[in-house]
Amino acid sequence: MKKIDILQIGPYPAWDMEALEKHFILHPYFEAEDKDTFVAQCSECIRGVATRGELGLSRKLIEALPNLEIISVYGVGYDAVDLVAARERGIRVTNTPDVLTKDVADFGVTMMLAASRGIIGAEAWVRSGSWADKGLFPLKNRVFGKRVGILGLGRIGFEIAKRCAAFEMDIAYSDLQPQEYATDLTYIKDARALAEHSDFLFVTVTGGPTTHHIVDKEVIEALGPEGMILNVSRASNIDENALISALECKALGFAALDVFEGEPQLDSRFLELDNVMLQPHHASGTIETRKAMGKLVCDNLEAHFTGRALLTPVV
Ligand code: 8YV
Repeated sequence: MKKIDILQIGPYPAWDMEALEKHFILHPYFEAEDKDTFVAQCSECIRGVATRGELGLSRKLIEALPNLEIISVYGVGYDAVDLVAARERGIRVTNTPDVLTKDVADFGVTMMLAASRGIIGAEAWVRSGSWADKGLFPLKNRVFGKRVGILGLGRIGFEIAKRCAAFEMDIAYSDLQPQEYATDLTYIKDARALAEHSDFLFVTVTGGPTTHHIVDKEVIEALGPEGMILNVSRASNIDENALISALECKALGFAALDVFEGEPQLDSRFLELDNVMLQPHHASGTIETRKAMGKLVCDNLEAHFTGRALLTPVV
């Protein structure tokens, strides 16, 4: 069978490239300097797109590809794919749920522990010689027994709750409705009330128009000067300007962030702050999980082009 042409929106590790290139001809959009010319040259032959969660696929690109049949997303989040444009054309969309859930939850809890106990500053304290020169490292804050709020008790939020239970935390969550699998957790519908009730607020809602800035100035201020916000979902879920202002004037205690508006660029004001932990969108970034995600991207494309049911369809 002739290999099918796939437009590749972002890079993948070598092991994924090997698997993809066995079955498909990859056109590396991300490497092209003149992207419009690149697309114009291959647009007719492209039948599939392989993209990443944070890159998605715009309406402009969907419309530039007249023979596009499927968009395979490397990531659970598909908010960056224009689903309306895809649906209009009957283009299928797949993502990579489940395989990354536990790593993302581990990472969120790692940020909570590391930020509370000042692990990054403590490492610098040792390396810079401050331990010997200045003495003891300043005392930090306890995690166990504190109150945690989880905004969005989906798969990732629930795994975070399970991990927080091991730290004997008082766990509450907010969601559209109480979840039947979470009867031993406190349900607080309103995001602001949840923040008021929490020392740590995890943002784990799906990104997209319905959750855009769900964490606004009021929610941030309700968390307060002792509170910590942790985001392992999408930057768009938080009003970033309000977040930076609250951090600057210490209306919010701390923010541990894996996602940023306009990433990989970020607002330079973040770099001036000492009450933030900044991470390069790698909550799912383990070799094991990324291998499973890459396999799903490839398997979904193969399933589609051999007429089998998609493994993890979104549309
Ligand atoms: C990935 C993600 O880092 O799953 C998602 O939605 O944002 C992350 O797991 C990203 O998709 C990799 O490109």
